[in-house]
Amino acid sequence: MKGVVLAGGKGTRLYPLTYATNKHLLPVYNMPMVFYSINTLVKAGIKEILIVTGGPHAGHFIRVLKNGNELGIDNLSYAYQENEDGICGALKLAEDFSGGKSLCVILGDNCTDADIGREVAKFRAGAKIFLKEVPDPKRFGVPRFDKKGHIVEIVEKPKKPASKYAVTGLYFYDNTVFDKIRKLKPSKRGELEVTDLNNLYIKEGRLDWAELSGFWRDAGTFDTLFEVNKYWAEKGGLS
Ligand code: DAU
Repeated sequence: MKGVVLAGGKGTRLYPLTYATNKHLLPVYNMPMVFYSINTLVKAGIKEILIVTGGPHAGHFIRVLKNGNELGIDNLSYAYQENEDGICGALKLAEDFSGGKSLCVILGDNCTDADIGREVAKFRAGAKIFLKEVPDPKRFGVPRFDKKGHIVEIVEKPKKPASKYAVTGLYFYDNTVFDKIRKLKPSKRGELEVTDLNNLYIKEGRLDWAELSGFWRDAGTFDTLFEVNKYWAEKGGLS
């Protein structure tokens, strides 16, 4: 399995912090934010990684990550997302990189200490997503379950969430993902939504899920950025 870190987008929710650099390079205690998502992949044995970034500060990534060796990456590639056309707009740039292999995709603002090594080793085909119980599901993609615990639908930022779970920004996809992305239409906010992609896998009956163990937050708001900093500071940081 290869890894893809999505670190594009404008970071407008964190203005003015993101006037001068990319959101994913802001500090989370002792490391830049994106080191945490990279570490989740490297810890799971994924050492071939593509970073998709965009915006005016994309060049900063090369200065920070260099060739990735200091982070335990064997082979680091970069892609540039020209249009801010959403998570699947960024992911579609990974097609050549994937070389037909399955992908572990992580959003660059997701910080977790979960160990996904076993799940990576087990994955064969279809898609797998990771859920976390949260107090504020309205901010996320939210799954609706049938009586057997299968996900029947995911709704992006629902006004009335059907469950207390957030779909975290950690996804496994097989090599049918790019054909599915080609079928997506932009949402009302003009983005190719990862939730629409996951719903295509659900329709095929090929989306599996697991609960993510350990700490997980997306560091995309002032409050969650603070919480993530506090968590990692108390834990002694990422080494
Ligand atoms: O964090 C989990 C949530 O992430 C999921 O529950 C949602 O289903 C999913 O849509 C996403 O929601 P957000 O509103 O938090 O997404 P956001 O626009 O903040 O983008 C999250 C990351 O995705 C961002 O840190 C970088 C990457 N991204 C995003 C966009 C819109 C890109 O690389 N390119 C983009 O164009």
